[in-house]
Amino acid sequence: MQDHTTFKIGGPAKYFVEPKDIQELKLLLKSAKRYNIPILVIGAGSNILINDNGVRAIVLRLNSPIFKKIFFHNNRLNVASGVVLSQILKLTQKQGLSGLEFLAGIPGTVGGALAMNAGISKKIKNQSFDKLEDYVLKRSRMGQKSKTKNIGSLVESVKVMDYNGKIKILNKKDIKFGYRKSNLSKYIILSALLKLRKRDKREIENEIKRYFNYRKETQDLSRASAGCIFKNPKGNQAGRLIDLSGLKGKRIGDASISRMHANFILNLSNATAKDVLKLMDLVRKEVKNKFNVTLEPEIKIWQ
Ligand code: EPU
Repeated sequence: MQDHTTFKIGGPAKYFVEPKDIQELKLLLKSAKRYNIPILVIGAGSNILINDNGVRAIVLRLNSPIFKKIFFHNNRLNVASGVVLSQILKLTQKQGLSGLEFLAGIPGTVGGALAMNAGISKKIKNQSFDKLEDYVLKRSRMGQKSKTKNIGSLVESVKVMDYNGKIKILNKKDIKFGYRKSNLSKYIILSALLKLRKRDKREIENEIKRYFNYRKETQDLSRASAGCIFKNPKGNQAGRLIDLSGLKGKRIGDASISRMHANFILNLSNATAKDVLKLMDLVRKEVKNKFNVTLEPEIKIWQ
């Protein structure tokens, strides 16, 4: 699985399947049920850490052309789950349709982004407190929420298949999007209808560039990683807390906490899942000790 994850970590999958169409997908689900084999769905492999010994499961990737279709109806985009985010950004920009700009630079597919309700927290301006610890405590006491954007807010409906092979259309009111989670994870996501709005093409292009540059300036994109490792705790940022715990650059094996963004663990070359898990443990302990905050993983860990 190291060839199918952005972390470049993970042993073999028992089965790795890319169904050619809906019929094959249904057949696969039927067989999985019959032989009682779990199914793990991956998109671009960007938010996962897979065990060094591999996974005894069917890893399912919707990668054939039928799962990559894109249509526009007026200001709406109907997009299949296997499409990568960078592609819908390009196409919507060309159509002068706005709403997805904040996804610039996220290495994911539409299906993955919907299941995880991918998004960003807007940059928070540094405030002047004598000690940074005071800042952290003050923010959490106020329970202040940082401003966020996420893909869920653009969704009108989602077409899914349940694990019995039945196709359903879930309307906005049936879908629960939370912070980096949704109730879509219990289905196989087939496509989504997203509501966008008209905007000047140049403005869209500039905004995409702004988001992309911000990411380039604040995150080390030159090394393999799984994106942010921990969710932001309420009213705070995991990256800030790990940074204030003095852990930037901390290394176990070939896994290292990024010096650019402390909520990133980089695979320097041959990191193992074990290295990463040990480093995550250490981070959780240090942050708990220093700030009494328990960090929850954002990445999915397949043991
Ligand atoms: N910060 C530090 N030290 C660090 C990193 C961050 O002090 O090492 C501070 C920054 O100075 C800033 C604040 O923390 O004031 C927030 O940082 P940033 O703008 O990078 O946002 P974030 O909350 O750390 C979130 C998403 C990222 C997304 C950025 C884009 C989560 C867990 N992460 O990060 O998403 O790229 O916003 O703004 O919500 C991901 O989900 O995989 C991911 C990388």
